[in-house]
Amino acid sequence: MEDKLFNKPILKDARKRSKTETTVLEYSPTAFDSLLGDRKRYCIQTHGCQANVADSEKIKGLLESQGFKETFVEEEADLIIINTCAIRENAEKKVFGELGRYKSMKLKNPDLIVAVGGCMPQEEVIVERLLKTYKQVDIIFGTHNLHKLLEYLNVVMKEKRRVVEVMSVEGDIVEDVPSARDSRFKAWVNIMFGCDEFCTYCIVPYTRGKERSRLPEHIIAEVKSLIELGYKEVTLLGQNVNSYGLDFESREYRFSDLLQDLSQLDIPRIRFTTSHPKDFSSEIIDSLSKGHNLMPYIHLPVQSGSNKILKAMNRKYTKESYLKTVQEIKNKIPGVSLTTDIIVGFPGETEEDFLETLDLVEKAGFEGAYTFVFSPRSGTPAAKLEDFTLMEDKKKRLYRLNKIINDGFKRGNLRFLNKTVEVLVEGHSKTNEMMLSGYTKHNKLVHFQGDMNLVGSLIELKIIDAKTWSLTGEILHG
Ligand code: SAH
Ligand code: SF4
Ligand code: F3S
Repeated sequence: MEDKLFNKPILKDARKRSKTETTVLEYSPTAFDSLLGDRKRYCIQTHGCQANVADSEKIKGLLESQGFKETFVEEEADLIIINTCAIRENAEKKVFGELGRYKSMKLKNPDLIVAVGGCMPQEEVIVERLLKTYKQVDIIFGTHNLHKLLEYLNVVMKEKRRVVEVMSVEGDIVEDVPSARDSRFKAWVNIMFGCDEFCTYCIVPYTRGKERSRLPEHIIAEVKSLIELGYKEVTLLGQNVNSYGLDFESREYRFSDLLQDLSQLDIPRIRFTTSHPKDFSSEIIDSLSKGHNLMPYIHLPVQSGSNKILKAMNRKYTKESYLKTVQEIKNKIPGVSLTTDIIVGFPGETEEDFLETLDLVEKAGFEGAYTFVFSPRSGTPAAKLEDFTLMEDKKKRLYRLNKIINDGFKRGNLRFLNKTVEVLVEGHSKTNEMMLSGYTKHNKLVHFQGDMNLVGSLIELKIIDAKTWSLTGEILHG
């Protein structure tokens, strides 16, 4: 049977930005003849950043509202959803690999439904490829319309045809989409969607649409309801949280105001990610220094230490202004832990440019970083730049950088040796089933021996060992 084709993505449209204020919609559930997920199981694969993790919780919330139950065993599933990431080529390759596996699963179970959502379907080239060669995919949907997933499922189940809908729009805000959160004590809270920065290497402004802030009253109400449910930690999410509120036309309310208002609420820990250095104002740093529940940990992606490369990346700050911000943060938030993101091998990056990055890393004193080799993304300006550096040389730079970053990671852990720290207990340690683990205020991973009934609580530990990737702690008695 033929496809039910609603909309396909158009990258050219995804680039447009207008001045119109964002429409805030309220999610209203569609009524179906019967429960779609009656005695059915779903399995979801989530790739990419925290925005996708939070979206997957919404997808789960929608499915569970229709009776679907989650399974972690693909072979048991009636529905498999891949929530994809388009940030680098590797991320996309993984998804095509997974789809290959589902093809053979579908031969054994023709009723299996496979859905692909998230950032990859926002790219024209990807949708063309899926339509042409990946017939095992039944639903293709994007980031702007995940709240309509149940409607697409209904069509596939009733009409037995493939559904494709991806919108290349600036985007609305849809409030009150149900969410089935993974944790009972840590929650993601979207404070804004989209990105208007257009860093020249990055696909996100195309896949996520216009930068749009949720109204503070909606955010505060969500955090209050999480507190009532017993949550201990929230992480505020946005691609560039520092520009929160800049899109409001009828009110003057910025990220520093939101931090101040949220810090008054009775929640022990508030985190946020990600910060863009150009908008990290003194007001934000002042708010952070005052809130007892605003965690002393900041992820501040720098990308490069060379002013020439920062300009070519359209990052809108310099090495010097970045280091000035870092100094102000360190002065006002003593003991703060800083981490970053760095791209090596951006087109035109010379050995001298790379040495500037190493110099910045030393000066900023990062205690961790995600480091990447530049990956050209079709449709972005940087993908068209001439690139003379061999991949082999880029990898050598990455290796040199990682060595210094790892030293910083260890230095960051060592400063807590013999100190007492507060940890939010998460569960069994991933590396040792006999131990529990959790994170400190500074976002350091700690393993320790303790009882499972501590999970979800905040406890004090004495640090007795510090390695590169983790700390070992001991429960303080009495
Ligand atoms: N909004 C965040 C980052 C989102 S993407 C910010 O602006 O800081 C996460 C990281 O992926 C980026 O910080 C960048 O380091 C990396 N990244 C993005 N596009 C990339 C590309 N084309 N190639 C390699 N790394 C990339
Ligand atoms: Fe991408 Fe830059 Fe936006 Fe971050 S700020 S999501 S790197 S365009
Ligand atoms: Fe990937 Fe989309 Fe996040 S491209 S990094 S999942 S916004």
